[in-house]
Amino acid sequence: MTLQNIRLISGSHLIGQVTYFCTSMSTAENSILGLKMPTDPRWADLASISLQEILTDHAFCEQKAATTCISLISRYADKPDLVNALSPVVTEEWGHFRMVWAEMKKRGYTLGRQRKDEYVNLLMEREPKQERGAPDERLLHRLLIMALIEARSCERFRLLHENLEDPALRDFYYKFMVSEAGHYRLMIDIAGLYFPADRVRETWAWWLKTEEDVLQHLTPRGDRMH
Ligand SMILES: [Fe+2]
Ligand SMILES: [Fe+2]
Repeated sequence: MTLQNIRLISGSHLIGQVTYFCTSMSTAENSILGLKMPTDPRWADLASISLQEILTDHAFCEQKAATTCISLISRYADKPDLVNALSPVVTEEWGHFRMVWAEMKKRGYTLGRQRKDEYVNLLMEREPKQERGAPDERLLHRLLIMALIEARSCERFRLLHENLEDPALRDFYYKFMVSEAGHYRLMIDIAGLYFPADRVRETWAWWLKTEEDVLQHLTPRGDRMH
């Protein structure tokens, strides 16, 4: 596979595909791309009650997404296809941070401090230890962890889009839902550039089960995106 084969699907022409993915996740247990455990829909109600908190957490999620892409580019600077694919994502994620911050300013909110992301920390802890010393194995896991975070974010943005009362906020979250779905597919496609398809598929399936287990140990909080 070459970079030209990567499906850069953040454009609006793929909204139908993305919407299909996001709306089918609750029943997609057998899909290679489907999250195993749907978020409790009541989470969106909790989030609407603590809007400033959820926006702050969201802003920092976007900042961390940009930072993680930059660190992967630095770590794997010898892989030009990876650098080419991730460079525009840095710009998009930082653009997302700015969108969230603009929304907060409009509402008279301050940014607040960065919060501990328990979900992401628990996922990172599950990375197989025996593979941590091998840079290429780490790359596979890091790309798939990023794909999981993007997929779960997409699902939560869909819940906000569908359940919030404010039409402007519903539109706001729709844009994030589409963009993060594109990123999630992109991370898996980048993994396919460097690892055999079977290996990517098996490792992705393992991460989907692992993510389900992690979520079962977390209580959904209205002040957290994850
Ligand atoms: Fe983003
Ligand atoms: Fe993203």
